Amino acid sequence: MSAGFTSALNVDDLEENSIKQVTVLGMSILLIKHKGEVFAVASRCPHMGCSLATGKLEEYILTCPCHGWKFDIRNGEYQTQKSIKLATYETKIENGQILVKALADFW
Ligand code: FES
Repeated sequence: MSAGFTSALNVDDLEENSIKQVTVLGMSILLIKHKGEVFAVASRCPHMGCSLATGKLEEYILTCPCHGWKFDIRNGEYQTQKSIKLATYETKIENGQILVKALADFW
């Protein structure tokens, strides 16, 4: 397996335009497949911590179900104020597995 990457999910278990919550190295992460590409973002909204797992996806924009904040899943940017970001993680597909480069942020 590639250095720094952790296996998160079988690629066949993530459908196009779907959101799946997984735990990688103790962190709750959402995997999202759009246009055949897999994106990984933190599952908690940086506004007030709601889960984005039931958020609405339109193209590359994920809308929080609580108060409607919108994030670009490619870079995590909050669309109203781009200095506020949802954490994003690098992904790759290897041997049928989605790998996520999630570094534990204990410090
Ligand atoms: S908690 Fe996500 S918009 Fe408020």
